[in-house]
Amino acid sequence: MNDFKQRVDELIEKINKASYEYYALDDPTITDQEYDDIYNELLRIEEKYPELKREDSPTNRVGGKALDKFEKVTHQSPMLSFDDIFNEDEINAFDQRIKKVIKNPTYTVEPKMDGLSGSLIYEKGILKRAATRGDGVVGEDITENVKTIKSVPLKLTKEIDIEVRGEIYMSKLSFERANRDKKAKGEKEFANPRNAAAGSIRQLDSKITATRGLDFMAYFIPNPENYNLKSQHESLNFLKELGFKTNYKLNGLVKNAKEIDIFISELASKRPDLPFPIDGIVLKVDNLEDEKKLGFTARVPRWGIAYKFPAVEVLTTLKEIKFTVGRTGKITPNAIFNPVHVDGSLVGKATLHNEDYCIEKDVRVGDIISIRKAGDVIPEVVEVKLDRRESNSEEFKMIEKCPICDTKLIKKDANHYCPNNNCPARHIEGLIHFASRDAMNIEGFGDSIIEDFYNIGYLKEVTDFYHLEKYEDSLTILEGFGEKSITNLLNSIENSKSNSLERLIFALGIRYVGKKIAKVIASHFENMDNLLNTDYESLRNIPEIGDKIAKSIIDYIKNENNIKLINSLKELNLNMNYLGKKVEENELFSGKTFVLTGSLTIYTRDEAKELIESFGGKCTDSVSKKTTAVIVGDNPGSKYEKAKALGIEIWSEKEFKEKLNNKSI
Ligand code: IVH
Repeated sequence: MNDFKQRVDELIEKINKASYEYYALDDPTITDQEYDDIYNELLRIEEKYPELKREDSPTNRVGGKALDKFEKVTHQSPMLSFDDIFNEDEINAFDQRIKKVIKNPTYTVEPKMDGLSGSLIYEKGILKRAATRGDGVVGEDITENVKTIKSVPLKLTKEIDIEVRGEIYMSKLSFERANRDKKAKGEKEFANPRNAAAGSIRQLDSKITATRGLDFMAYFIPNPENYNLKSQHESLNFLKELGFKTNYKLNGLVKNAKEIDIFISELASKRPDLPFPIDGIVLKVDNLEDEKKLGFTARVPRWGIAYKFPAVEVLTTLKEIKFTVGRTGKITPNAIFNPVHVDGSLVGKATLHNEDYCIEKDVRVGDIISIRKAGDVIPEVVEVKLDRRESNSEEFKMIEKCPICDTKLIKKDANHYCPNNNCPARHIEGLIHFASRDAMNIEGFGDSIIEDFYNIGYLKEVTDFYHLEKYEDSLTILEGFGEKSITNLLNSIENSKSNSLERLIFALGIRYVGKKIAKVIASHFENMDNLLNTDYESLRNIPEIGDKIAKSIIDYIKNENNIKLINSLKELNLNMNYLGKKVEENELFSGKTFVLTGSLTIYTRDEAKELIESFGGKCTDSVSKKTTAVIVGDNPGSKYEKAKALGIEIWSEKEFKEKLNNKSI
């Protein structure tokens, strides 16, 4: 046994060394076969002698038991981020600002990894806890998931206690693979590597995370003085020594704005060939004494800043303008172009919104157009390269008839609509909406599967979801549908029957009734019958409901077909009751707007928010004249300053608690 224990130690050491060389240094010294052999030997010993399995064994990386939820964890010190800047002038201004305090500053310049930040806690060199940033004060415990990331050392080279921060990200290769998998399963693809990383690290089942190929780049030690480090570049070297992946080949040291500009343009030219996504650079004053002198503003460190690359514009050829029909019958022209890579994802389509937009941009089939990602996610057509236009191009012309059912379109404001309530396109979109995540949340139904089922005739209206089990046998022959996925799908359909009322209200697709309003209505009326028996006046008495929404709801509930549909759903045993907490009317909170700032100690942010909402109030992110009161925790930020400046009521967390306790008086 002792021999095996010694062998386990030897194998772990070998595997850790090999992983470090492969994942962190990108410089392997053993072959994949040799690696597999030692890994399998370790696995065999651990299977035979489970008591020899070490906490930091690399075999722990495959993922463990699925969780019910993520626990909340309070960070040892707030996880801040830097202010963003976008151009050379702002870089200059930053350099000047620093030079007012520090005579001859040196800056580290690092690629800004495009993922999400994470904090890792090691005790005596062993990974004990990993957390997301969350709101900066409280994050979520993602330890099991982080353990599956191969470049995260489970054991450091030194037996020290340390917190390490860095970016959890997805390489371009893993991103493409994840999206290929999603596509094959008929699931919605990730919009970009950042969303893919965030979605993958927030999986309750770490076995799924393990398949996604996430990565971790270390870049920050919150308490460098504990390890006698004198500068950020020493911190980065120390992280590498401890076994972390760092950007040691790309990071640099510079002295002034000019050198920063050079670093940026060099990095920008390397960007397309880098294996991971970056969206700018991060600049940090290198010397830690200097950092201390500069300190923090109410919100962010003064000693660093993040420069974001301008959105990349890519040229391509407009092949077609394709019109689609939405759930409400709205017609949308879409630009279909030769697919191009923009900021890490392949895009071939962008919305052109409506006729006016097309005319204003003067888009024509055959044009060379430039594409970029608006808000980093949604592709948009920036402009037409008029100088490259073919002389025989034809002006955009809006269609007059529905592309699906040929009904003559009608125009309302800037938009065209198909007025045919029985237009198949409207039905398909309605079915997709019904099953979607925020509505009935029927998992396993990609848009294209719904379309296929509609075309085959399995799904014509929403009640058909609940008859699908009839086709269980025929479903197995459909491409991409294994027995397990059919069982999962049917289970998910069955589970959706017990959703709380607000999901059903949203799923029905009543015009102007989004997710939020659906919740307001559900909690107000408590059950479907009360809603069906309401009138315009009663609806208008609800603070969040204005004329347009009230009219739309009344139109919906007075329509016989809709009543029939709801009755059928009732007969199918769908839950028609609100299962959340009742919104109690309370004059201190009802209809009022609150902002939370600083770190709360009595409640978590989510709890405080939920309490406010359960008494009829709402929470927003920013302070304005419309804010009723700002609830202030420890170390409040700029929102507190702004509230004071605007003369808005300020409640301490204790006062907030007292008001909640008195609420029923
Ligand atoms: S340092 C006090 N270094 O960009 C801020 N951040 O605002 C400590 N990021 O939210 C962060 N690459 O998620 C740092 N090399 C890098 C980074 C980096 C990406 C992210 C980080 C943070 C934001 C900076």
